[in-house]
This record gives sequence, structure tokens and C-alpha cells, in this order.
Amino acid sequence: NIPSFTLNTGYKIPSVGIGCWMGAPGGGEIAAKMCKDALEIFAQLPTMAQAYGYGNEEYVGKAIRESGVPREEIFLTTKLPNHHHHKVKESLDESLAKLGVDYVDLYLIHWPQAYTEDNKPIPYGQSPTYVETWKEMEKLLDTGKVRSIGVSNFSIKLLEVLLRESDIVPATNQVECHPCLPSVDLKLWCEERGILITAYSPLGRPGEYDGKPSLLQDPDVVSIAQAHNATPGQVTLSWGVKRGTIVIPKSENPERIKQNISLLDLTDEEMATLNAIHLKPGMHRSLLRYHQYSDDGTVLGWTYEQ
Ligand code: A2P
Repeated sequence: NIPSFTLNTGYKIPSVGIGCWMGAPGGGEIAAKMCKDALEIFAQLPTMAQAYGYGNEEYVGKAIRESGVPREEIFLTTKLPNHHHHKVKESLDESLAKLGVDYVDLYLIHWPQAYTEDNKPIPYGQSPTYVETWKEMEKLLDTGKVRSIGVSNFSIKLLEVLLRESDIVPATNQVECHPCLPSVDLKLWCEERGILITAYSPLGRPGEYDGKPSLLQDPDVVSIAQAHNATPGQVTLSWGVKRGTIVIPKSENPERIKQNISLLDLTDEEMATLNAIHLKPGMHRSLLRYHQYSDDGTVLGWTYEQ
């Protein structure tokens, strides 16, 4: 029983999805298998499945067809690549063709900064600005090819400008979010304006920290997992959904995919413990990886907090 949230467009979105991005060479086939496994597992539940096609659209499209799950039971998201900001409409058409579908449920600007076709960042303020790109996104809503539009990796400062200078409030802002990086201010700001947060890397990027213990090994997370006879991954994802964010964990492993959609009913006390993890000194803080923004709200890059 995966709960759904309602987007500001009125469409429902399942609170758990499957992140299908796979950057490594050969990742497409892995993403296809992962997506197909997930769709089949999700389809056993009385809910829509949520798949995420960005970067692997041919493969995700193939997985959708092979899964046999009807299109209308799938909530399908994809994104506008950074180097396509100057051709939003054409880029969406390319994505739909690769996916082999008529529409996506959600279409996101992947990153606020535009890049040239040969992948060089275009300085902020130069055309196409993220506001110009968003205005092109808005036009897509009338085409029937997208049901909702949103953004990804946007800070409060960028969203303030976006909301001031455009007509449509993004349905979601997809950002990295997990107990080590709860993005409390951004989440609250977005909630107050009807923008749902979608949490990518909701498990805290296990295995990416050069052998340092991961969030999933944290004693508090482990003890809450034991209390529910569940896994640390389930604890982390259940926290994400209970606080009102959509979580899109990636897993290639069917057993873990099943776990990841079995949410736990965490107590208020457990939520408070998990809410405080990012404040703990030591290992958690050193694991933080977050966007660094300059004073004008531009994204400077990624960094690890020391
Ligand atoms: P695997 O694909 O072998 O399951 P993120 O979503 O933050 O990018 O994290 C994905 C990583 O988390 C992958 O390495 C994935 O490995 C792993 N993973 C996914 N689900 C779980 C889980 N329930 N418990 C532990 N690790 C998980």
C-alpha cells in the first residue's frame, strides 16, 4: 500500500518510484531490467507504478512495453536535459519517441543551468535563462504531451525568481534528500507554495563514501529497523514518505525493490530521532553532499561538508 500524493495540477503521484538513471556504460540494459522488475512488482499493488525515464528512455520504454503494465497505470517522469534548454518542445518530442509513449505524467527541468549542445555551461543570466526555459515548459501543458511540469535541483533563491516571473508553479522540485540532508528549509518553502519535494538518493547514497559507514549503518537507523523487523533502507524511505516527500530509490535487486515499497509506520519518536540525524557530529556530517549556491542563488557545484 504505497500512499499517493496529489500534485498541484490535481494528478496523483505514487509516493515511491523507481529511479532508473544509470550512468555507467552498459547501464541501459541494467536500467531496463530494473525498471521491468519494478513495474512487475509495483503492478501487484493497487497503485500506479512510478518510473523515471531520464537518460535511459529507450530502455525504460522497452521495459514498460515488456512489463505488460497498462500505460495509464504507470506514472512516468522524464527530464529536459541541460543541453536542450533552447529546444524544449523538440526535446520532449524526442523523449516521447524514445519512450514510445504519447505523454509523460511529469516533465522536469533537470538542472537550472543551461548547457550548450556540446555540453558547456552557459553562464547564468544568459539565454536561455531558467525562466525562459520554464516559460517553454509551461506551453507544453496545452499540448497534452505532459500532465504536470516541474523542476529539479532548484534552490529557494531560484524558485523565488521563477515564481515571480512566470505563471505556473512547478508541481515538484526533485532534489537530493535523505536523513543526512533533510533540506528542511527548502522543503518547508516548497510545501507552503504547493510544490512537492521529490527526494532523489533517498537512501543517502550507500556505498559512495570511500568505505566510511553509511547512513544505513547508523545505530539509530539500525535500531529502528530492528524494532520493525525491517531493513535500514525501509526506515529511511518510510521517513521520507511520512514527512511528505516522494522517494525514488534505485535498486537493481528485486528483493530490495520489494523492500523499498514496503513502508513502515514510524512513530513520532522514531521520526524525531531520524529528523535529528543530520545534526549528529561525526560521521553523518562528513557524509553530507549537497549543492553549493552562491549568494545570487546560482549553483556552484557539489561539495562534501567537512
Ligand atoms: P542495488 O541496486 O544493488 O540494490 P540512490 O537511490 O541513493 O542512488 O541509492 C542507490 C543505491 O542503494 C544502490 O547502490 C542500491 O543498490 C542501494 N539500495 C537500494 N535499495 C536498498 C536497500 N533497501 N537497502 C540497501 N541498499 C539499497
